[in-house]
Amino acid sequence: MSATGSRPHVDEVTIRKARPEDAAACGRICYVAFGTINAAHGFSHEMPSEEAAVGLLTKAFSHPGFWCVVAEQDGRIVGSNCMDERSVVFGIGPITVDPKVQNHGVGRRLMEAVLDRSRKRHAPAVRLLQAAFHNRSLSLYTKLGFDPREPMSVMQGQPLGFSIDGCAVRPAIMSDLDAANRVCQLVHGHSRSGELSDAITHGTAVVVEREGRITGYVTGFGYFAHGAGECNLDLQALIAAADSFGGPGMIVPTRNAALFRWCLEKGLRVIQPLTLMTMGMYNEPQGAYLPSILY
Ligand SMILES: CC(C)(COP(=O)(O)OP(=O)(O)OC[C@H]1O[C@@H](n2cnc3c(N)ncnc32)[C@H](O)[C@@H]1OP(=O)(O)O)[C@@H](O)C(=O)NCCC(=O)NCCS
Repeated sequence: MSATGSRPHVDEVTIRKARPEDAAACGRICYVAFGTINAAHGFSHEMPSEEAAVGLLTKAFSHPGFWCVVAEQDGRIVGSNCMDERSVVFGIGPITVDPKVQNHGVGRRLMEAVLDRSRKRHAPAVRLLQAAFHNRSLSLYTKLGFDPREPMSVMQGQPLGFSIDGCAVRPAIMSDLDAANRVCQLVHGHSRSGELSDAITHGTAVVVEREGRITGYVTGFGYFAHGAGECNLDLQALIAAADSFGGPGMIVPTRNAALFRWCLEKGLRVIQPLTLMTMGMYNEPQGAYLPSILY
């Protein structure tokens, strides 16, 4: 035990790989940690329930494409972090530390663990989305080497329920993978093939075709889904066809003012500001995109 009671000295904390059976304890912490920081800033909870947080971490801790760690003090779990390794660029999150021991170095240790791993795996880049109102995470990530890149707006609302002439929107199938990856490559300079193929398998991915070719896709609609399009029209056609926006909402790059304004004009509301932070390779996007909560 440290001199500050139950607050850990960073040397007393051990980091180990997460196991599926850790998800109950980590999900509880995740739910409370996000609830506490959001409430302190007047934002609603981004997770509907503790069960949802446990479910999310159960999936991440069991998925072979994710690398997840927990922090322990005196045999008790005090936090966790996840890294999505399914595509060439790795995405970090969710990271949460038990509010009782926050601001004592545990978050830094959890971040260093996944960053060490990304270096060992020679990932060209790691990225994350940060709650823009959270001074501590912004400072921690910046000190660790992340560059703030893009302001983002989480948007929610009623499904728009219309189609756009000349844009054919349909569920993606596995044979669309290369064509959809081509769009992502065009926009970002790299594909997100691992995430997209998972989404096609799970039946959530959607493509848009114009002039006989695939010009955009989304892996779903909402917080955990990303998308790319040759231009805003492709994303507008996809967004207009969404039957809901999952989780707290869809994430729109705020600097894409034309798309952002279009969403506002269609009645969507801003829920929360986020900041895209990146380390390593980064290309200024050429085209239109929607990030997931990872990047
Ligand atoms: C974000 C979170 C994971 C960080 O973990 P933590 O254990 O509290 O953070 P740490 O103590 O390891 O690191 C905080 C760092 O920020 C610095 N810091 C904190 N507030 C700061 C401020 N206002 N200005 C500048 N620096 C600040 C600390 O000095 C420390 O820096 P150091 O590592 O160089 O000493 C944790 O606070 C948490 O779970 N928050 C709620 C959920 C959340 O927001 N998750 C992240 C989503 S993006």
